[in-house]
Amino acid sequence: FDYTRISDLVKKEPSDQIVAAQGWVRTKRDGKTVSFLEVNDGSCLKGLQVVIDRAKISDDILAPVTTGASVVCRGRIVESAGGNQQVEMQAEEIILVGAAPVDTYPLQKKRHTLEFLREIAHLRPRTNLMGAVMRVRNTMAYAVHTFFQERGFVYVNTPLISTADAEGAGEQFHVTTLDLDHIPRTADGAVDYTKDFFGKMAKLTVSGQLEGETYAMALKNIYTFGPTFRAENSNTTRHLAEFWMIEPEMAFCDLEGNMQIAEEFLTYVLRTVLEKHEDDMNLFSQFVEPGLKDTLWQVIEAPFAHMTYTDAIAELSKNNNKFEYPVSWGSDMQSEHERFLTETVWKRPVIVTDYPKEIKAFYMKLNDDGKTVRGMDVLAPRLGEIIGGSEREARVDVLEERMRECNLNPENYWWYLDLRRFGTVPHAGFGLGFERAVRYVTGMQNIRDVIPFPRAVKSADF
Ligand code: 4AD
Ligand code: MG
Repeated sequence: FDYTRISDLVKKEPSDQIVAAQGWVRTKRDGKTVSFLEVNDGSCLKGLQVVIDRAKISDDILAPVTTGASVVCRGRIVESAGGNQQVEMQAEEIILVGAAPVDTYPLQKKRHTLEFLREIAHLRPRTNLMGAVMRVRNTMAYAVHTFFQERGFVYVNTPLISTADAEGAGEQFHVTTLDLDHIPRTADGAVDYTKDFFGKMAKLTVSGQLEGETYAMALKNIYTFGPTFRAENSNTTRHLAEFWMIEPEMAFCDLEGNMQIAEEFLTYVLRTVLEKHEDDMNLFSQFVEPGLKDTLWQVIEAPFAHMTYTDAIAELSKNNNKFEYPVSWGSDMQSEHERFLTETVWKRPVIVTDYPKEIKAFYMKLNDDGKTVRGMDVLAPRLGEIIGGSEREARVDVLEERMRECNLNPENYWWYLDLRRFGTVPHAGFGLGFERAVRYVTGMQNIRDVIPFPRAVKSADF
């Protein structure tokens, strides 16, 4: 097995040693006596230039070596004569591994639209742009783990199949073995879930938070990082039906501590990407979102803005004439309002706190005013909500009351209430939508282009 990557070869000092480059041909150019290949294995943005002396390598061998073909190129790394790269490979041997016929291979040299690329989700990672997005996504996942691991948080895997509705929003996919054409019914006509696989109604989780809290009540600081599912009928550029979420949960922590960690965490992830991905970030800054790199550095360097929901609504309602949906106290913010706060009012991320209880989940701590809860949303320019979180209701009686107000049956959440019956503590946590974060960092405009295989309303092609 050869561990050599193209990203190492393009940085190698020229030498007489023969090395092998394995990868896919991105482009091929034929001159009079020499041909040029750009070969890449996805380890970096710009591939290795392979220079082929056609007196040495026959046209028969070269003919099927076209864009998309897989090859092994053996040769020496030499200083490059052209100005586009430091070094290139002087080929001794070209081995075609798998051809990609020019008349059928969909990715030819011209630029393709993102819409077209979505239809060929299995081939789009071979484009420069998608390769860059996926490398950055990988580094972000790594940064998520390092951030929490370095701070002693325990990584907890929460279940994907669940009988609880963590957000109480009723937007869950069902998991069932019942035959939908012959649904078993009880005498009174209800679905007979005793005949179902689990013996009761099961769903795909919308969040690992509730189960995460149980582990925070034992291990103090934990985080989850896994897939979550929402059957929201939102056909937008920021909603997916299957997305990844990072949910830290901290015992002995209040809303202030929660906000501090959320800000440290986001800036840590941004910084890691900016430091590790110069070429990829330059690509995004140049072709996707002009000035992206500078903007992200500014976000890292200035503290996030803070405001209460009540203040935010006061500010927004002064500008109601600018919105499709005017707001008043009690309104849920839409993305146009979130963007106004971050792009016009503050020009940086904003943390909004203390929302009306009616528009937030049952588990958020009730403030003394009886009307608002200790929730927080982190809003980002270009995107709107990137993080949602709160201090949790730690008082068992208040929590039960809130559940009833939200039409949830406390009996179904007996284990969650036990956390407040036995050794309850103030605790808090938040959820970062991973794809929203990748969208934010790369400047990509559609969330479907930052996850390998997007699942969204009316679309799951692979
Ligand atoms: O605000 P949400 O619904 O909060 C929770 O799920 C809490 N349980 C989190 C917690 O406190 N532990 O979702 C959290 C984040 C949102 O801010 C957003 O970034 C992302 O998850 N998100 C989505 N991302 C993509 N597609 C969707 N349909 C999303 N819904 C939420
Ligand atoms: Mg939210």
